[in-house]
Amino acid sequence: MPTRDDCLELDRLDGLAPRRDDFVLAPDLIYLDGNSLGPLTRATRERVLATLDEEWATGLIRSWNAAGWMAAPTRVGDRLAPLIGARAGEVVVADTLTLLLAKVILGALDLRRDRSVVLTDAANFHSDLYVAEAMARRAGRPVTLRAIERDTLDDELSEDVALVMLTHVDFRTGEMLDLAGVTERVHAAGALMLWDFAHSTGAVPLDVTAANVDFAAGCTYKYLNAGPGAPGFLYVRESWQGLIENPLPGWLGHARPFDFERGYVAAPGVQAFVTSSPSVIALSALDGALDAFAGVSMDDVREKSLALTDLFIELVEARLPGAFTLVTPRDHARRGSQVALRHEDAYGIIQALIARGVIGDFRAPDVCRFGFTPLYLRFVDVYDAVTHLVEVLEGAEHRDPAYATRNPVT
Ligand SMILES: Cc1ncc(COP(=O)(O)O)c(C=O)c1O
Repeated sequence: MPTRDDCLELDRLDGLAPRRDDFVLAPDLIYLDGNSLGPLTRATRERVLATLDEEWATGLIRSWNAAGWMAAPTRVGDRLAPLIGARAGEVVVADTLTLLLAKVILGALDLRRDRSVVLTDAANFHSDLYVAEAMARRAGRPVTLRAIERDTLDDELSEDVALVMLTHVDFRTGEMLDLAGVTERVHAAGALMLWDFAHSTGAVPLDVTAANVDFAAGCTYKYLNAGPGAPGFLYVRESWQGLIENPLPGWLGHARPFDFERGYVAAPGVQAFVTSSPSVIALSALDGALDAFAGVSMDDVREKSLALTDLFIELVEARLPGAFTLVTPRDHARRGSQVALRHEDAYGIIQALIARGVIGDFRAPDVCRFGFTPLYLRFVDVYDAVTHLVEVLEGAEHRDPAYATRNPVT
């Protein structure tokens, strides 16, 4: 079993270690929740302050042109694109993830009018399930949502499936699906593929071009660190642009928004999926946050992520044998960048850890969830987090009556 000194040595050898300085993090905090809300980076802070003070306060309305506010959704989209293996012009930042999924589901259903099923995973994130169900009902023809066990996908890919929508890394268990393999099988069945990258972008290497993905959407407030409620991003493969329609057309997806024409003419490219005015301050935050990835290889991020999650699993199993059930796959190929541990007192355990300055989160009904973010997490943090976990359980701190009632956000 690795010692604390071994972990300090791993940190000394870690090429990504200097990146921690890009983040604003209290020195004694162990943050294992960047998979839910990433921390503030110094560049984000500076970029947002510049937007407030220089662009908004001083430039006022002139900044729509002078500071390039109007082009921000596609400009920042182009900066994000390499993180998912997309090309310039294929990604736009707008709306939020659920809204983007809604747009693509309706748009994709129109591209497969001879088919009547949207297929998804019964264990998908609840927002994805709600929106897919509602969009299927509004497709303008009878369409059903079929929520399946993910292992049965191949059997379920019948000729009536128009669209398959899956989350690439499971929000609860951290299981990662085979991006290229699943997309290929979906295409072989004549259906379209929409991926939810909420727990993938900035966490694992992605290549939508090599995998021939049709559509993908994700959020930017998790591993991309763009801040609470930051906008989502949408990828539309170039070959679908101009063919798939935005079912919620608005003036900023129009080819000539300032001609104020009565009829809608979609803008070329992925801009057509924009509906409304860009959220400029939030886009600036994302623009600044993306600096943390500049010059970083996602393969290096992945290598460290697996080393961190391996270390956490090994230490928990060695120091707390039998205390938890590991829900995250051990197989590297099937593991995202989080570790989920099942325990009947999971909520109390997470609260007791938070009280000690180790922040993870709880996912109902019984999962302690820990996110591992290689840009700012140290190996020694993992070691110390497990020490805290041992002490919480030994002292039965999780049974504190203060943790009997759940907070609204868990
Ligand atoms: C997998 C997944 N899909 C969708 C969402 C919803 O994102 P939003 O609130 O941006 O619509 C989340 C939010 O955490 C998520 O984890």
